[in-house]
Amino acid sequence: MIKPFDKRIGIIGGGQLGKMLIESAAGWNLNYVILETDEHAPAVRYASGFIKGSLTDSAKIMELSAQADVITYEIEHLDAHTLFEIEQTGVLVIPSAGILKIIQDKGLQKLFYEKHGLPTVPFILADNEKKIENLNSLRSHRIVIKNCKEGYDGKGVEIMDKQAFVQNGMKLPFTGPCIIEEFVTNALEYSVIVARNRTGDVKVYPPVEMVFDDEANLVEYLFAPARLTPEQEEYARHISLEAIDRLEGIGIFAVEIIGDEVGNLFINEIAPRPHNSGHHTIEACITSQYEQLNRILLGLPLGETDLLQPAVMVNLLGPPGFEGPYSIEGTEEAFKIPGFHLHLYNKQISKHKRKMGHYTVIAPTIDEALDHAMKIKDSLHFAPLNLIPESLIK
Ligand SMILES: Nc1ncnc2c1ncn2[C@@H]1O[C@H](COP(=O)(O)OP(=O)(O)OP(=O)(O)O)[C@@H](O)[C@H]1O
Ligand SMILES: [Mg+2]
Repeated sequence: MIKPFDKRIGIIGGGQLGKMLIESAAGWNLNYVILETDEHAPAVRYASGFIKGSLTDSAKIMELSAQADVITYEIEHLDAHTLFEIEQTGVLVIPSAGILKIIQDKGLQKLFYEKHGLPTVPFILADNEKKIENLNSLRSHRIVIKNCKEGYDGKGVEIMDKQAFVQNGMKLPFTGPCIIEEFVTNALEYSVIVARNRTGDVKVYPPVEMVFDDEANLVEYLFAPARLTPEQEEYARHISLEAIDRLEGIGIFAVEIIGDEVGNLFINEIAPRPHNSGHHTIEACITSQYEQLNRILLGLPLGETDLLQPAVMVNLLGPPGFEGPYSIEGTEEAFKIPGFHLHLYNKQISKHKRKMGHYTVIAPTIDEALDHAMKIKDSLHFAPLNLIPESLIK
C-alpha cells in the first residue's frame, strides 16, 4: 500500500500545468520538486523544492530524479534519453520515456496510428534530403506541413496550396523531417482526456470542443460537452481509449481529434500530460485532470470523470501592444457572474499571446455557460501596470 503522504514527486517544467497539478493535491501533504530554468515560473512557489536548470540538461534531470520517488513532466520538449536512464535506476517515470519518444516525433506518432488501425488524417513522411514521391496520394488541394519535432501552439505547422508547393520545387519550410497531411477544410476540433493508471484501469473524460483563435493559433475557448452526435461521441471515446491502450500509457493523455465537414473523426496528436483542453475539469468534473494525475503518480485508484455541469473555459492571453508588468481589469463584473472561476498563472510579465491565465464558467446549460463566458470575455482584460515613474520616487 502506497501512502500518499510520504512521496516525493519530481516535475520537469514549472509552468501553469505544474502549478495546477500541485494545487489539486494541496491537502495531501505531498512534496514536489521542480526542475525549471526560471525561478519565477508559475509552479515554483508552490513546490517544496526547486532545481534551477534546463529541461534538456541531463545532469539536472538526474539531480531531480535523485530527490524524487516518481518523475513526471508538464512539457514534451525535454531530454527523453535521460528519462530512459532514470527508468533503469528504478525511479518511476510517468508517462514512460518510450511514450515520450514517440510523442516527441509527429512522424512516429502518425506511423503508430497507422500501424494500429487508428483513424488519422492521410499523410506522407518527407525530408528535404530526399525526393518527395507520393504527394499525389494526398487528395486535398491544400496541404499541411508539420515539422516532426519541437512544434507547439501551431509553431512548426504551415498550410499551403499543393500546386504552389510543387511549383516551388517541393521545398519544405522546415529543415528536419516533416509530415505532409491533407488539409481538412472547416475542421472542427475536439479533445478527449484519458487517464490510465499503473494497473491498466482507464477513465475517459467527456469530449470537449475547442474554438481556435486563428491568428494566435491557440485555443481561444472550449466547451464541454462537445456538439457531437451520440455515435460520434462514442467513437471519439473509443478511438481515444484504444490509442492510449495501444500505447500502454500510464498517466494523463489529451487526444486531439479533428472532425471533417461530413462528421468523420481523426486523431491529430496526443499530449502526454494534463492539457489546456482539460482546465475546465477543475470545476466541472468530479475529479480534475490534475488530481487524476496525482492519483496515478501515487498508485491510487482513478477518480470519476463525469461532468457535473456544462462548462466553458477561456484562455486569458497577453494583449497586443505592450510587454511588461500588468494588472487585470474587469474582475468586479466577472465575479458577479454565477459559476465564474478565475485562474491566474502568476506570470511576472505579460507578452502578446502569452497564456496568462484562464477562467471557467459552469452553468446548468451549455448556452448559459457560453453566454456568461462571452460577457466576461468582453470585460476582463490585462492592462499595463501603471508604475510610478522613477523620477517621482523620492
Ligand atoms: N490536417 C489538418 N487540417 C486542417 N487543420 C489542421 C490540420 N492539422 C492541424 N491543423 C490545425 O493546426 C493546429 C496545430 O496543429 P497541431 O496540433 O498538429 O500542431 P502543434 O504545433 O502541435 O499544435 P498545439 O501545440 O497547439 O497542439 C491544429 O490545432 C489545427 O487547428
Ligand atoms: Mg495540437
